[in-house]
Amino acid sequence: MDTDLEARAKEFAAKDPFPLQSFSHLEWWVGNAYQTAMFFRNLLGFSIVGYRGPETGVAETSSYLVESGAIRFIVTGAQVPEHPVAEHVLLHGPGVKDVAFLVPDAEEAFELALDRGAEVAYKPFVTESDRGREVAGGIKAYGETIHSLVERDGLFPDFEPRDDPIAVSAGLHTIDHVVANVEDMNEWVDWYERIFGFTMLKHFDDEAISTEYTALMSKVMWDGEGIIKLPINEPAEAKKRSQIEEYLNFYRSAGVQHIAMATDDLQTTMEDVHARGLETIHVPDEYYDEAKVRVPDLDADWDRIMANRILVDADEGGQLLQMFTKMIQDRPTVFFELIERRGATGFGLGNFRALFEAIEREQGKRGNL
Ligand code: FE2
Repeated sequence: MDTDLEARAKEFAAKDPFPLQSFSHLEWWVGNAYQTAMFFRNLLGFSIVGYRGPETGVAETSSYLVESGAIRFIVTGAQVPEHPVAEHVLLHGPGVKDVAFLVPDAEEAFELALDRGAEVAYKPFVTESDRGREVAGGIKAYGETIHSLVERDGLFPDFEPRDDPIAVSAGLHTIDHVVANVEDMNEWVDWYERIFGFTMLKHFDDEAISTEYTALMSKVMWDGEGIIKLPINEPAEAKKRSQIEEYLNFYRSAGVQHIAMATDDLQTTMEDVHARGLETIHVPDEYYDEAKVRVPDLDADWDRIMANRILVDADEGGQLLQMFTKMIQDRPTVFFELIERRGATGFGLGNFRALFEAIEREQGKRGNL
């Protein structure tokens, strides 16, 4: 996090009755933590900076702590089939279990969330080692996803630090937004208003983001400061099965659909990750005929934008560049967005149709359209 954003977060936390300071981390529950950590490392430029497992006194799970800039993921797999992680993966496939936030006082935040009607995922507990001290309590969110409320002093105390001298960053530095797919969007809009005191930043109705086949509605909930943005999607009526419905069918519940990670130079980041073998969605040539009309004063070289198949958009605040990866597991559930904001505060509304048409081509190939 840059110092400017950090100062703003602190100032905001001082006056907010429910001070979420920033994302702490996302925890993934997967079938093979080692390979998932390697995927994040080798294709997206994360460093493996910590490990927790049988060798460090945790018998039933293995976890890797990976980071890129201020983005931190914990990737956890089970050692035994009866473990909740194994059961979760059997039902949902690999996915995000925990979208965790940093707070100044975890017990206070946890109690306040309960007072406001949140359900307990786990009660606050303290973890301490010579590396740091952490207090964390969890509340239930959409599907089987939870939000940990984390207060941390120092490093992650339960992870044995690791050096990763050969990891090379791809420039990803911050989580820009985390998107949920749910059955009932308004239920969760109300929930984030009630529990976290969030407000709605934007609302996209099905008119705005429908194609011939797919339709969804989306509301973006945020903390009012732009540090935490959580768009929530629900399927809308369409001719055929929408991508949100496909997600809900394959994930078997509501859950995290995509995580947008910010870079200051998406063109260089894309050249880097493409060279590493990361697969991104197919963008047809015709997309750029339309994009050149929609964003005529793009501050970039169109040939380089096209060579990297980058999507472009503009709103009243400025321009944005973005790209979406293919699904990162076998089921059509979770993927990443890579984004560079050049003043734009939106989410690429102008791209949604182009994006959905691209996604539908992939969905059609799987026979799920
Ligand atoms: Fe997004």
